[in-house]
Amino acid sequence: MNTKKILPLILLGALLFAAGCRAANPSSPTGTDPGAEATSPAETGSEADAIYLDPSQSPDARADDLLGRMTLEEKIGQMTLVEKNSITPQAVTDKFIGAVLSGGGGRPSTNDPEHWAEMVDGFQSKALETRLAIPLLYGVDAVHGHGNLKGATIFPHNIGLGAAADPDLMFRIGQATAEEVAATGIWWNFAPVLAVTQDIRWGRTYESYSQDPELVSLLASAYLRGLQGENLADPLTVLATPKHFVGDGGVVWGTSTTQNYSIDRGDTQIDEDGLRSIHLYPYLAAIEDGAQSVMVSFSSWNGTKLHEHQYLITEVLKGELGFEGFVVSDWAGIDEVDSNYYNAVVRAINAGIDMNMVPTQYDLFIMALTAAVENEEVPMDRIDDAVRRILRVKFMLGLFEAPFSDPDLRDIPGSQAHRELAREAVAKSLVLLQNRDDVLPAAKDLPLVFVAGDFADDVGVQSGGWTIEWQGGRGNITPGTTVLEAIRAAVGPDTDVRYNRFGTYDRVLDEDGNPAIAQLGIVVIGEAPYSEGVGDAEDLSIPEADVANIARVAERVEQLVVILISGRPLIITDQLDMADAWVAAWLPGTEGQGVADVLFGDRPFQGKLPFAWPLSMEQLPLGTNHDESPLFPLGYGLEAGR
Ligand code: BGC
Ligand code: BGC
Repeated sequence: MNTKKILPLILLGALLFAAGCRAANPSSPTGTDPGAEATSPAETGSEADAIYLDPSQSPDARADDLLGRMTLEEKIGQMTLVEKNSITPQAVTDKFIGAVLSGGGGRPSTNDPEHWAEMVDGFQSKALETRLAIPLLYGVDAVHGHGNLKGATIFPHNIGLGAAADPDLMFRIGQATAEEVAATGIWWNFAPVLAVTQDIRWGRTYESYSQDPELVSLLASAYLRGLQGENLADPLTVLATPKHFVGDGGVVWGTSTTQNYSIDRGDTQIDEDGLRSIHLYPYLAAIEDGAQSVMVSFSSWNGTKLHEHQYLITEVLKGELGFEGFVVSDWAGIDEVDSNYYNAVVRAINAGIDMNMVPTQYDLFIMALTAAVENEEVPMDRIDDAVRRILRVKFMLGLFEAPFSDPDLRDIPGSQAHRELAREAVAKSLVLLQNRDDVLPAAKDLPLVFVAGDFADDVGVQSGGWTIEWQGGRGNITPGTTVLEAIRAAVGPDTDVRYNRFGTYDRVLDEDGNPAIAQLGIVVIGEAPYSEGVGDAEDLSIPEADVANIARVAERVEQLVVILISGRPLIITDQLDMADAWVAAWLPGTEGQGVADVLFGDRPFQGKLPFAWPLSMEQLPLGTNHDESPLFPLGYGLEAGR
């Protein structure tokens, strides 16, 4: 260790000693004037008049003051983010834990706003029992609305919002999501995803707005501003987390090191100019717009894991880009840095990670980092930098003043206003790929409409992954409107809508007793829910059963529409001629009425492809393969309706 590092260590040792003394001999609170001039930490005699407890002080001043009072154990606790099922509230007190999260599906046993708030407040009150009463930060993946919460408004996944390409809409979705999350006592959202996906075989494609960095940046920033509002301390705003830093969208097929995954968490093989112009690009606006936490990517850049990338995290993000917030690891992401956990912790923390999403074995992390500091393998100034960054954000959030949920907000999740907003988003996100003879928009007074496909009547599949469960689920998993219900609600009273999953309408006969021919057929097919690497796919073609379904319905209708519910473009080249119209509806979420709004002309088709639509699997990856001519190019989308 060089002398530059020894001096601050000695000073810090003295500070820590002083802090310990204060704790051992707490002086009785004196009647201080709340408006009194700031005092330096050294002058602060008691906790009651402490700078860190004074809301009129700046977050920086408060963080510095509080840091000066903390023991190493308390500091390392602040750097620890634990999955809620892996820790008891009492352990939050005992280990000085700074943050807890709900992972995908991390809900309370009764899944409603009251029980969410009770769960989060329960952890919070145990955090406040610690010596310095530092409030807890609770995080959640509200990546398309508060997805783990039953009854929340589920907005379209990001790929659909990329098709809508409407920054004002994004801002409003950010606001609404913040309100639904805050209503459950949570003020930290692990969103937005800034991935600029280049290969749609990636299972996280739908979490990405577009293959175009400019569009990703525009939409993600507007959403972030909506989440965070003017002031993070406003009770209805939440801390955003641009993720996954950086290059997550550039991973190369076949490079994943995770079992059963093919591309997720893989290696982004690109030179620095490419990394900067494609993948780093959206971080510039996000930081400019006030991002205060950033999550690191599981992926690597040219063979080095981002979780140990000192150059990218410390020099580029914190240095060059001037990011002042804190850097959080991804779910056990640090563990992947080295098979020896101690070494992994040393490398990741020294690289600049400030908070470790452990997520389960917090004791191991605390032991490893404590030992690393004692062994001087992680310098004390690195710990202080990390903790200062975390505390500063906690002060910005106003957590010290208002750590608990507000019971008056419990009705916000799934409110009518938010569902209307989601419906607008769905309508704007639909992309009309083909429209022979202007079959769409359809009339609302057709005598007979046939609907087919099991995706037509399933809120779970239309919501996709990150809904109630990490992987999402089929069926009636949360309240919403299916496409079928929406069609029924949209048509006039004289229209007979018949639904059969398999496209068989044997018992629907005309006046002469022959099989009736419907004026319109609508087949809804797509991808069953998945998330992350579970969705990595070598083959994106339409299953034979769905092709057969389309063919069956085609026999019984005058005009046929196929709606695709999917997290990405699917290979439809050979099937395109089988139907008059094709609609990409992405993963619309709970508000299926937005689909019917455009099908029946209440709103126009206006969505544009946020990804080029491949002709075949051989063309992939298309993002980087500019020489190929796809089935439909980036930005394609027919317009129809008023
Ligand atoms: C994902 C993140 C997510 C985290 C917490 C990770 O596996 O990569 O996007 O925020 O889990 O659920
Ligand atoms: C959690 C997710 C997390 C994932 C990482 C799951 O068990 O629920 O939140 O992203 O693990 O692989």
